[in-house]
Amino acid sequence: MARPLRLGFLASHNGSNMQALIDACKTGRLEARPSVVISNNSESGALARARQEGIPACHLSGHTHPGPGVLDQAICATLTHHQVEVVCLAGYMKRLGPQTLATFRGRVLNIHPALLPKFGGEGYYGQAVHQAVLEAGEKESGPTVHLVDEQYDHGPVLAQARVLVLEGDTPATLAARVLAQEHRLYAETLQRIAMGEIVLEGLKR
Ligand code: GAR
Repeated sequence: MARPLRLGFLASHNGSNMQALIDACKTGRLEARPSVVISNNSESGALARARQEGIPACHLSGHTHPGPGVLDQAICATLTHHQVEVVCLAGYMKRLGPQTLATFRGRVLNIHPALLPKFGGEGYYGQAVHQAVLEAGEKESGPTVHLVDEQYDHGPVLAQARVLVLEGDTPATLAARVLAQEHRLYAETLQRIAMGEIVLEGLKR
């Protein structure tokens, strides 16, 4: 087995995607090692989960690091210190700064709960995404894993999964089925990266 891929997580809220990846690492479905968790939200489930799992957990935000560029520098330094190879955004509601993006260019992934480029961008988070999918009368939805660039929910798509929209779906019922697929798709995509089946230009192994 190749050396496990070192993962760094950024998450703002519950962290269920992050947990799914940690669990996949534990069972060996994902040959990777969760190395650090960063959250802008000191009360996030993601930080609580990280502490529970014994993974270094860092609260880094505009409050802890005020001033232009200071937070970006701290995030970049933390990821670098923990020798992170691939950065996983998992419900991270902030944009990454230029230093972090430049240092980890081509090896920052995000998961979004819709079939990008549809229903993505600023304001498309949580139930709002699924509400918009239902209002548009879409027949299908599903998660997207993509590389991150300077814009929200933007950058080359690495993988998508399809989930049928069912009659009578509410944002909550659709969200639950999409989230189950997010957990599966994110782990599978990272494992394809770990195996070299998906090649990230920024990743030296
Ligand atoms: C997930 O549904 C993820 O796709 C979404 O936030 C949720 C986080 O849930 N991300 C976005 O909407 C990004 N634009 P989690 O904290 O339970 O993983």
